[in-house]
Amino acid sequence: MCGIIGATSSRGVGKILVNGLKKMEYRGYDSAGLVLNQDEAVFQLRTLGKVSNLEELMTKERPKANSGIAHTRWATHGVPSETNAHPHGSNGNIYIVHNGIIENHDELRERLVNEGYEIQSQTDSELIAHLIHFNKEKGKTTLDALIETTKELDGAYSIAVIDTEEKGKIFAAKQKSPLLVGKGIEENFIASDPLAIAGLAESFYLLEDGDFAEITKDEIKIVGSNGEALSREETIIDTSVKEASKDGYKHFMEKEIYEQPQAITNAIEGRTADGEVLDNIFGLGSSEAFKGVKRIQFVACGTSLHAAKTARKWFEELCETPCYIDFASEYRYRNPLVEDDTLFVCISQSGETADTMAALNYAKDEKYLGIVTICNVPTSTMARESDWKIFTNAGPEIGVASTKAFTTQLAALLLLACSISKSKNLNKDKRADAINDLLNTPSLVKESFGLKRHIDEIVEKIADKKNALYLGRGVYFSIAQEGALKFKEITYIHAEAYPAGELKHGPLALVDEMTPVVALAPEDELVEKLLSNLEEVKSRGGTLYIFGNATSKIKIEKGKFMNMPKCGYYNAPIVYTIPLQILAYEVACSIGTDLDQPRNLAKSVTVE
Ligand code: F6R
Repeated sequence: MCGIIGATSSRGVGKILVNGLKKMEYRGYDSAGLVLNQDEAVFQLRTLGKVSNLEELMTKERPKANSGIAHTRWATHGVPSETNAHPHGSNGNIYIVHNGIIENHDELRERLVNEGYEIQSQTDSELIAHLIHFNKEKGKTTLDALIETTKELDGAYSIAVIDTEEKGKIFAAKQKSPLLVGKGIEENFIASDPLAIAGLAESFYLLEDGDFAEITKDEIKIVGSNGEALSREETIIDTSVKEASKDGYKHFMEKEIYEQPQAITNAIEGRTADGEVLDNIFGLGSSEAFKGVKRIQFVACGTSLHAAKTARKWFEELCETPCYIDFASEYRYRNPLVEDDTLFVCISQSGETADTMAALNYAKDEKYLGIVTICNVPTSTMARESDWKIFTNAGPEIGVASTKAFTTQLAALLLLACSISKSKNLNKDKRADAINDLLNTPSLVKESFGLKRHIDEIVEKIADKKNALYLGRGVYFSIAQEGALKFKEITYIHAEAYPAGELKHGPLALVDEMTPVVALAPEDELVEKLLSNLEEVKSRGGTLYIFGNATSKIKIEKGKFMNMPKCGYYNAPIVYTIPLQILAYEVACSIGTDLDQPRNLAKSVTVE
């Protein structure tokens, strides 16, 4: 992961770099650093922890310089430390920042040590700086030395380079990690995310894999691996999104939970009319192409994968289409057998997740009917690389733990199921029910916020436990999985989800008075079976926290029953997600974790 930024200007760039890093902290936040260059002088600062630590040091030191590069890190090779923080230097004149992973780092390290380089850090990234230096020593220009260096790198990278001997210049390379060039007035930039240079760059060049750039404050040169000039389209990106603010909430995650009625409204708006889904909402030609869909292959990671698992039933029922679902990180390694007329669907909040992107690239060479992306970031690589797409319109999600991204993905997936069902002319009545439920979702989500006062009563009883079990049946098992993921990532308490019927096959051994068991008991065809499973928990002394409908007949001596709003068949899974988010959030608040930026995680996972 990591976020990189570079700036060259006629004014000082220190503040620009630090502000840019702050906007990219979602990409990693275990250490940060920068290098500033003025004439031949360099100023390097690296700090452990968040960008605010770097900022504090900057205000003390107040360095002035017209060009520089900076980095916020999510450790892959080497522990988070000042030494492992970027930028990394070679010979006091080449400095680099890197996002990605260099897979052949062992062999490169050995070679560079044999060449006499003293390697300071445990990172794969430092090797890039030495290799550039090594290649430059052979008489190459800095740009050619960078191009030569990348020929020796296996893996993914976006790299920015400062050479103190090349006044006011920044060099960059991109391969499988996001990078763009921003054009300003008497200043130019490179960054992993356009938001990092929002308000500074007037237009952007989205670099493609294999592109290199050399920028000064007045000129942007983009070349290919033979040094040939390339023309990349100059694009305007709307970076005018409201500056991320908590609007009075304690955390971004809390704000994002309570924003969900509006976020879901935005995801649906303009996509249905008169109880029917509109044509081509996935892009021109999509409705025609969907007529031929016989199978669907989903790939995604984490929360986005849970969205696919939840939605499978909708596709089977509304489109009569079998679905395959893979962890994006596993998909291409199982040499999937692709049958004719299979639609490939990627789900991703960021649209940049490396595993999902790699699966998409793999799918391009297979005989899929086409590739659909469901994502929240219109400028993302996945959106650009797909045949058809839909944006979830959830607005920026800053909290590392996904909340509104998940529920809006479910809304978009239901729209996709309806679109395919309409194209195939199947199940008109069920589709009308689905759309009706979808339109009712925002108000039901709002109603479910009322559960908070009941959740508040159980928070302290859960916050001191070491393990929790989450149970559900049918699609509610996928919602339980999402609830357990949310819970563990921000509370650091181990939580595991099981289909309730699976308990007796092993996990029941975990149930004792110290294990809270959270269960989802909607009024559906499986509720009686679920209630029997929960009786098994009761008889083993387990404490049950049940979200269900009051009609679900279970008497709880230990624990609590929390009554859910009466939902429709299609929107109930979305609504049942909400109390699980609130539970995770409130328990994490009571423990006092850093819940917008939980330990060891990052929002956008751009390494494999
Ligand atoms: C969990 C979470 C992650 C992401 C996963 C995929 O709360 O946010 O599990 O869902 O890293 O990210 P995207 O959706 O950006 O591809």
